[in-house]
Amino acid sequence: MPGKVIIGAQWGDEGKGKFIDIFASKADMVVRSQGGNNAGHTVVANGVKFKLQLVPSGILDPNCLNIIGAGVVVNPKAILEELGRLHEQGVVTDQLRIDARAHCIMPWHLELDALSEAEKAADGTAIGTTKKGIGPTYMDKSERSGIRMHDFVDPERFEAVIRDACARKNRVITGVYGGSPLDVEAILSEYRAYADRLRPMVTDTTILVYNAVKAGKEILFEGAQGTLLDLDMGTYPFVTSSHPVSGGCCIGSGVGPTAISEVMGIFKSYTTRVGEGPFPTELFDETGDYIRNAGGEFGTVTGRPRRTGWFDAVIAKYAVRVNGLTEMVINKIDPLRGLPKLKVCVAYKLKNGKTITDFPANFMDLLDCEPVYEEFDGFEEDITACRHFDELPVSVQQYIKALERICECPITMLGVGPDRDQVITI
Ligand code: GDP
Ligand code: IMO
Ligand code: MG
Repeated sequence: MPGKVIIGAQWGDEGKGKFIDIFASKADMVVRSQGGNNAGHTVVANGVKFKLQLVPSGILDPNCLNIIGAGVVVNPKAILEELGRLHEQGVVTDQLRIDARAHCIMPWHLELDALSEAEKAADGTAIGTTKKGIGPTYMDKSERSGIRMHDFVDPERFEAVIRDACARKNRVITGVYGGSPLDVEAILSEYRAYADRLRPMVTDTTILVYNAVKAGKEILFEGAQGTLLDLDMGTYPFVTSSHPVSGGCCIGSGVGPTAISEVMGIFKSYTTRVGEGPFPTELFDETGDYIRNAGGEFGTVTGRPRRTGWFDAVIAKYAVRVNGLTEMVINKIDPLRGLPKLKVCVAYKLKNGKTITDFPANFMDLLDCEPVYEEFDGFEEDITACRHFDELPVSVQQYIKALERICECPITMLGVGPDRDQVITI
């Protein structure tokens, strides 16, 4: 490796968890750098399903150190519940460290996420967030009023920072939204217990990561969300509030770009999106339903049905560019079985008649644009047991080769089923 980044290259849920888990067995460390428990990463190991939200997907490997970096937003209650669920599944979680700089998601952030979405829904501008308090927590961080882990677990600072923040947020909740104030005494007593339990895990993880880099250890940086949900590079404002692009892993884990040698982008063989926002290749017909059902496209975190559509190579080329991808993975090919034709979008025809092949900066250009498709033969065979490229039906091989040609980036792995074994290395 030694520093390998694995990121989502579309709108999230591409199967990052599966590939992190596969590579974690060879890694010394897995690092999460951004996002929070809006992420839902599924790992299926020998038929057993693990759903990870904040805990890095290397946790299933007892020899791997798992880091929650400075750029992550941590809900203290949610992470302890997640660790509890992992313990029930027999997972040992001693190998988890949380950066002292990471910001805490507090009850007022969840409240403000819900209030803001409800207000926007009234005028049709809701983002469709996961309502996990992600945006409001990153807002406080940028505004320089957030609560960092080192304060949260400091018995001398805990009460003062929580009283101060809660009082300020109650003024917003009641004054701006007309909501009910939160009970600070109840929060103090509940969250003091969480702080006590999290304290042993909180440390300066940048030193751990740096020492691992210096020692030539194998480090995996686990992206959450996806490129098109990036605050800058995504379809703003229908994005998350962090940086899922590969560069985000440097900022959020405190290493320089020289620590990274490989950037792997995970794609589905089609496209999905949860929440609102433009989606040029979205299918509103029975083919869209077919893909949703065949791919089990229902949110890991919210259970919402995911919107589905054809593979969008305009997006894929953009993801190759803004992430500096060194390789692509085409995951979830098996759900396309049974479709007579497979389509790949190679350009957008805009409302003004212009045809573009570069993903536009302004999402307004995507509204009502017409995707220009190349068409490929589908396949009828069950491919879930294939483990070599040449075992795949010829039409699937042609589809993959076409994607590689169009996207101008090597495709190194394919996914043909949810289990960690259901992959093909090319
Ligand atoms: P992540 O957020 O990128 O880690 O992806 P999610 O876990 O949210 O969503 C991916 C879903 O697809 C999960 O239910 C996985 O178990 C499942 N999955 C992953 N790879 C494959 C695959 O190759 N084929 C099929 N059918 N399902 C897959
Ligand atoms: P993983 O890591 C898919 C989407 C939400 C919404 C937008 C903003 O599992 O791929 P937020 O709660 O972050 O403020 O919501 O981002 N979103 C995701 N969609 N996968 C995810 O994570 C997502 N995390 C956030 O649906 O549209
Ligand atoms: Mg997910």
